[in-house]
Amino acid sequence: MSDSAYGNFPKVELHLHLEGAAPPAFIRGLAKEKNIDIHRIFDDAGNYAFGNFTQFLQVYEATVETLKTPEDYHRLTLAMLEQSAVQGVIYTETFLSPDFCGGGEVAAWREFLQAIKEAADIAETRDGIIMRGIVTAVRHLGPDKAKAAALCAAETVGDWLVGFGIGGDERIGRLKDFSWSFDLAREAKLHLTAHAGEWGGPESVRDALSLGVERIGHGVRAIEDLALVDHLAENEIVLEVCPGSNIALGLYPDWQHHPIERLMERGVKVTVSTDDPPFFHTTMSYEFERLADSYGWDDDVLRTLNETATGVAFCDEPTRARLMKKLEQYQ
Ligand code: ADE
Ligand code: ZN
Repeated sequence: MSDSAYGNFPKVELHLHLEGAAPPAFIRGLAKEKNIDIHRIFDDAGNYAFGNFTQFLQVYEATVETLKTPEDYHRLTLAMLEQSAVQGVIYTETFLSPDFCGGGEVAAWREFLQAIKEAADIAETRDGIIMRGIVTAVRHLGPDKAKAAALCAAETVGDWLVGFGIGGDERIGRLKDFSWSFDLAREAKLHLTAHAGEWGGPESVRDALSLGVERIGHGVRAIEDLALVDHLAENEIVLEVCPGSNIALGLYPDWQHHPIERLMERGVKVTVSTDDPPFFHTTMSYEFERLADSYGWDDDVLRTLNETATGVAFCDEPTRARLMKKLEQYQ
């Protein structure tokens, strides 16, 4: 178990990138096995080294160079789920990229997805943690690659692969250029989310809303436009807030300046996730600890985060009922 005060507190996480959850030692091990030299992405202490968001994306993509086969992804998924279960996570929705898993080819993607799902089954039996997948397009790779990712998602939609979204560099291109992919995903009955309002301002959040998303990845810069904040609150658009990620990447200088509490006080439904935990030196337990310390949030407020997340999780209703029951049992 985690040694944090919140280690045993059950947690529901909706925003986690699979490669972004790779422990540095795991990636070093794979690089060694495959004779790939990626020492440049680590600092002297062996942690991922980057100074800003652009460099973060470069380091992220360098880690992906070591992840070549479905078997690699199977091992990564097991490592990620073990790490999350230790933090008390009972449910994790994880972003998966067909661009990295088979180069956007549907047949190859099916093999990667199968390997990831098999690992998820093992971890669920072993640790009780439930995982569901969201295909994510990578924005800076452009709309054509996103179409391939959306096609992969539409071909494999089901009770495990439940959503479609987009991440990557929000400063590049406009979300409306990806509407074909979001329309296809919606027609295939995938749930929708998009990263917005992290490196882009309120207009970027509005662009995401016009794609018909149910949730927004980050979304925190909506705070710069109170009419937009009210719109999010009234329409119950839920934010997947990742405070530790935002602070580690320099979006806000510290927890006191982070807008999560102001968003919540104005009625926006928020959830809390880690995004890419080893990159940002965070865990779900650490996020809960910092929320409690920074804003004086008691267990009831933290429980509300879990209940909100469970309510908008993209899983089917029996799974949601199981999660609610697990949360109630801890009261
Ligand atoms: N991919 C992994 N982490 C990300 C983040 N914080 N923003 C956008 N894309 C990402
Ligand atoms: Zn993210």
